[in-house]
Amino acid sequence: MTPNPAAPSPGAPGASPAAADGGAGTTGLLRPHAEQQFAAELAALAASDDRPRPPAWRLSPAAVVTYLLGGTLPDGTVVTPKYVGPRRLVEVAVATLATDRALLLLGVPGTAKTWVSEHLAAAVCGRSTLVVQGTSGTAEEAVRYGWNYARLLAEGPSPAALVPSPVMVAMREAQVARIEELTRIPSDVQDALITVLSEKSLPVPELGVEVQAAKGFNVIATANDRDRGVNELSSALRRRFNTVVLPLPGTPEEEVQIVVRRVEQLGSALELPEVPAALEEIRRVVTVFRELRSGSTLDGRTALKTPSGTLSTAEAISVVTHGLALSAHFGDGVLRASDIAAGIVGSVVKDPVADRAVWVEYLEAVAREREGWADFYRACREVTG
Ligand SMILES: Nc1ncnc2c1ncn2[C@@H]1O[C@H](COP(=O)(O)OP(=O)(O)O)[C@@H](O)[C@H]1O
Ligand SMILES: [Mg+2]
Repeated sequence: MTPNPAAPSPGAPGASPAAADGGAGTTGLLRPHAEQQFAAELAALAASDDRPRPPAWRLSPAAVVTYLLGGTLPDGTVVTPKYVGPRRLVEVAVATLATDRALLLLGVPGTAKTWVSEHLAAAVCGRSTLVVQGTSGTAEEAVRYGWNYARLLAEGPSPAALVPSPVMVAMREAQVARIEELTRIPSDVQDALITVLSEKSLPVPELGVEVQAAKGFNVIATANDRDRGVNELSSALRRRFNTVVLPLPGTPEEEVQIVVRRVEQLGSALELPEVPAALEEIRRVVTVFRELRSGSTLDGRTALKTPSGTLSTAEAISVVTHGLALSAHFGDGVLRASDIAAGIVGSVVKDPVADRAVWVEYLEAVAREREGWADFYRACREVTG
């Protein structure tokens, strides 16, 4: 089972000293939290935000949308776009968080559900770390509360022996709790959320008390389209959520833009040696992914078989990042077809038999014939074997 970051020692419920430092001292971290990495943007947004804020919110809903989609503030601060997609969808998501309904982000893998959830929590309450990671082994303690058994045995049930879940901490402290992969959580554990979301209360019968949610508490859950039917959400629970479906990027240009931006950020976070913007190769990766995903060439002329993997934008990002590392350390510092070929083949060919056949067909029928793709075709053939 995944260790639960939300089972801190009593007395330090989810307290994250790093989150409180306003972004200073995070440069040595491999992956700072959103509220650390974008502390300056969040502070500038708060300073210029004169719209009404819902109880306990750090920003107004409009400012949260600006944080997600990007913009320029009156004082000249540039807010970088975190999410590329329909504005309306982000507005619906943010508005939901200001109501008594929770937010469910639904979509195929790699559509930025986790990413959006983290940034929403960071913008709304300044803390994205109250997370329950949903797995088939997620127990009720991860959603409600557990006990520090040493203290429980020594002292009996007491507030000090109680280990709150991230959800309980969020209720107490008027924060947003995040639940990842909700539909992987066994149904009986999911049911524990119904009381929380409908009554906004979490009873602790052992202590004869209940924790009532402070204004500002809400929940963002994510769930995978492909997991449908794994642990279907009960209708009782579904009714407590507003569902927002995150789409795959609408156009190749949009997807290229997402990959370029993310690769840039990752490259600088990993301190990879500078490799010139490799738009050409990025376009190629995005084209291959989109064509195989949709089962047709971009011009719609040739029907294609689709491989078993999801070929998400997130995977395109890692193919390019990996290619940049290859090129920087072992190549001539320019991203070439040979740097991305192995990554692409790895993403497409998950099943060594069926996917390989799909891939070889794509190479022969599409890549080989395409103008300007000779280097790519050759590099891919070489690693496909
Ligand atoms: N529309 C988008 N806008 C911005 N980034 C995106 C978009 N789609 C995908 N990404 C990027 O891809 C990755 C998505 O990963 P993740 O949020 O883990 O996906 P999911 O949780 O939906 O499986 C993130 O790094 C994010 O930057
Ligand atoms: Mg996710």
